[in-house]
Amino acid sequence: MSALLTPQVYLDSCATTPPAAGVLEAMASVYGEAWANPSSLHGFGLAAAERLERSRMRIAEILGCSANQVILTSGGTESIHTALLGVAADGPPGRLVISSVEHPATVAAAAQLQRRGWQVECCPVDHLGVVDLEALELLLKPPTRLLSLIWGQSEVGTLQPIEAIGRRCRAVGVLLHVDAVQVVGHQPVDFNQLPIDLLSLAGHKLQGPRGVGALLVRSDLKLKPFMGGGGQESGRRGGTEPVALVAGLAQALDLCHGRLWAHGGRDPIADLRDGLLERLLALPGVELSGPDPLDPTAPKRLPHHISLLMAAPGGKPLSGRRLVQTIWQQGYALSSGSACSSGRGANPWGMAPSPILQAMGYPDPVAASGLRISLGPWLTAGDLEGVPGAVERGKLRVLAGEPVG
Ligand SMILES: Cc1ncc(COP(=O)(O)O)c(C=O)c1O
Repeated sequence: MSALLTPQVYLDSCATTPPAAGVLEAMASVYGEAWANPSSLHGFGLAAAERLERSRMRIAEILGCSANQVILTSGGTESIHTALLGVAADGPPGRLVISSVEHPATVAAAAQLQRRGWQVECCPVDHLGVVDLEALELLLKPPTRLLSLIWGQSEVGTLQPIEAIGRRCRAVGVLLHVDAVQVVGHQPVDFNQLPIDLLSLAGHKLQGPRGVGALLVRSDLKLKPFMGGGGQESGRRGGTEPVALVAGLAQALDLCHGRLWAHGGRDPIADLRDGLLERLLALPGVELSGPDPLDPTAPKRLPHHISLLMAAPGGKPLSGRRLVQTIWQQGYALSSGSACSSGRGANPWGMAPSPILQAMGYPDPVAASGLRISLGPWLTAGDLEGVPGAVERGKLRVLAGEPVG
C-alpha cells in the first residue's frame, strides 16, 4: 500500500467488518482447548461439544429463542438457501414471493425453486425501497406458501416494516423468512416474539468471524436439510460444526447485545451517522438514496448506513465505482453499492447501474452513481472528520478525469 494512504479508515461494514478483539480471543481459546470434532465420544470431543452447545445457547438467548431453534451455517447465503429450499422440500410446489430489492443469495435460491416447479413472484418497492404493501397483499393470496424479505437493505439501508408484514402472513397462513443479515447486531431481535418463521444472519457483518452464520427456525417448523451429511444440527444441516467460529459468533453477538443494552436498545453509531450525513448532504451534487434518518416521518433506515447519489455540477451522474477509487486514494474505504456486485457488471464507461436503485425507479445513469458509507463501533467522530472533504476531492478528481488505481 502506498504511503499516501493515511489515514486508512474503514467505512464498508455492510460488506464485512473487522473481527472484534474479544472475538479473536474466544476463537483462539477454542482452537487451543476445544478443537476436536464435537461428535466424537472421547474427552476431546466432549470438550468441543460442550463449547459448541454453550455458544449455541448464548446465541439463542441473545436472539430470543431456544437453542434447538438455531441451525448453524456458513453464513448468510447458506442460511437463506437452507430456509427457502428447506421449507420448499416439504409438500408440492407452491408460490414464493420475494421483493425486487433482495440480496442475490435470495434471488439464486428462488431461481432454484423455480427450476423445481415453484412459481416465483417479485413484489415491487417504492422510491425509498419500501415494499408496496398493497401489491404484497394481493401476492399473499393462494398459492403463495412462502414470503422471503430482506429486513435491512444492504445497498440503500431501507428497513421493511417486518412486524406488520409478518402479522399479515400469519393471518393468511404464509410462512415468512427474513434476511436479517444487515440488521442483527444493530437492533435487538427477539425472535420468538416476532411474527417471523425463519431468520438468517451472518457472523462477519457484526464483527464476528467470516464462514459462520445461523438460521433461526420457528420451533414447530419442519425443515428438510439442503445439505445432507453426518446428521449434524439435528439432521437439518450436514457438516462438522466449526466450534471456534461459532464461539466467535456468540462472542460478537454478546458484544453487540451489550452495546445495544447500554443504549436502551438503540445502536449508538446512529449519532455519528447522522452527523456525517448532515455534512455530506451539504456538499453540492450529493443526494441521499433510501429513507432519510433525519426525517422522523420517513420510513426507518439501518442505523449505520448512508447511501448517496453523486452528480457533477450540471446534474450529470458520476460513476460511483470511480468515486470509490478516488476516495480510497485518500485513505477512506467505502463502496459503490453492495460488495457482491460492485466488482462486476460495469460497462466500458465504468458505469454499473445497480439493480436495487433501478428497482426503486432510478434511471440507469443515476443508478450507477451510488456511494455507500457504512459504519461500525471501531469508528470515532475524529475518524469521520475528513470524510466530506475526501468525497468532495474524489468528485473533483473524477471530473478532472484523473487516472485511478
Ligand atoms: C442482506 C444480505 N443478505 C445476505 C448476504 C449474504 O451473506 P454472506 O456473505 O454471509 O453469505 C449479505 C452479504 O452481503 C447481505 O448483505
